Amino acid sequence: MLTNTRTGWGLISIVLHWLSAVAVVGLFILGWWMTGLGYYDSWYNIGPWWHRSVGVLLLFATLLRLGWRVAQPTPQHHGQRFERLAADAGHVALYVLLVGVLVSGYLISTAEGDPISVFGWFQVPALITSLPDQATLAGKVHWYGAIALMVLSGGHALAAIKHHWVDQNDTLVRMLSSRK
Ligand code: HEM
Ligand code: HEM
Repeated sequence: MLTNTRTGWGLISIVLHWLSAVAVVGLFILGWWMTGLGYYDSWYNIGPWWHRSVGVLLLFATLLRLGWRVAQPTPQHHGQRFERLAADAGHVALYVLLVGVLVSGYLISTAEGDPISVFGWFQVPALITSLPDQATLAGKVHWYGAIALMVLSGGHALAAIKHHWVDQNDTLVRMLSSRK
């Protein structure tokens, strides 16, 4: 139930996948919306505070997820050899983009040496502050990385729907239920 097998995802992988999917889309919408806020808007400070707090929690969850991914077996892909390779490449790219966007967000937020307060519960210290033009460079990586992540996630969701409706295999169902 909790752990993966060669035919299905366990509850831990499923929960991490969907929490992360909701957080990624939510952070993108919030991040984009933040860029339009004026200085006198009441959300001018609260928006980024939420964005950074949820982002840091997602960063920790992603580290856990990657550790779990390495420690556990993964269900075999369906489809032709080409399709299986494409699925693997797509998933690796999703992880790379996710980590890139999370780390660049951390590097923007801590570029001036300030720690990040996570909902006021605890602080994450600034570890790297001396990269050349850190905030600007990390900001570019963050923005283009976030867009690429959304485009790829969109394709990924369409692929999942195609497996369900067109190929009629259990790819989507097994990411929704650990009983399969
Ligand atoms: C997958 C997770 C994330 C997504 C999809 C995301 C998305 C975005 C987007 C679309 C923007 C607005 C565009 C921009 O100014 O670059 C933004 C801004 C920002 N994000 Fe994120 N973000 C994520 C994670 C994080 C994390 C983990 C942090 C910090 C710990 C963070 C900190 C920031 C900051 C400080 C800004 C404002 C940047 C600026 O004004 O240049 N983000 N994010
Ligand atoms: C509505 C949106 C989404 C749907 C329907 C969906 C569906 C799925 C399904 C069915 C799988 C299992 C594939 C398999 O068993 O081979 C999967 C895996 C995966 N998904 Fe999503 N997903 C969605 C959103 C996202 C988002 C936003 C991300 C971005 C981070 C993401 C990242 C991943 C990754 C990295 C895997 C591979 C898991 C692994 O092999 O470790 N998904 N997704």
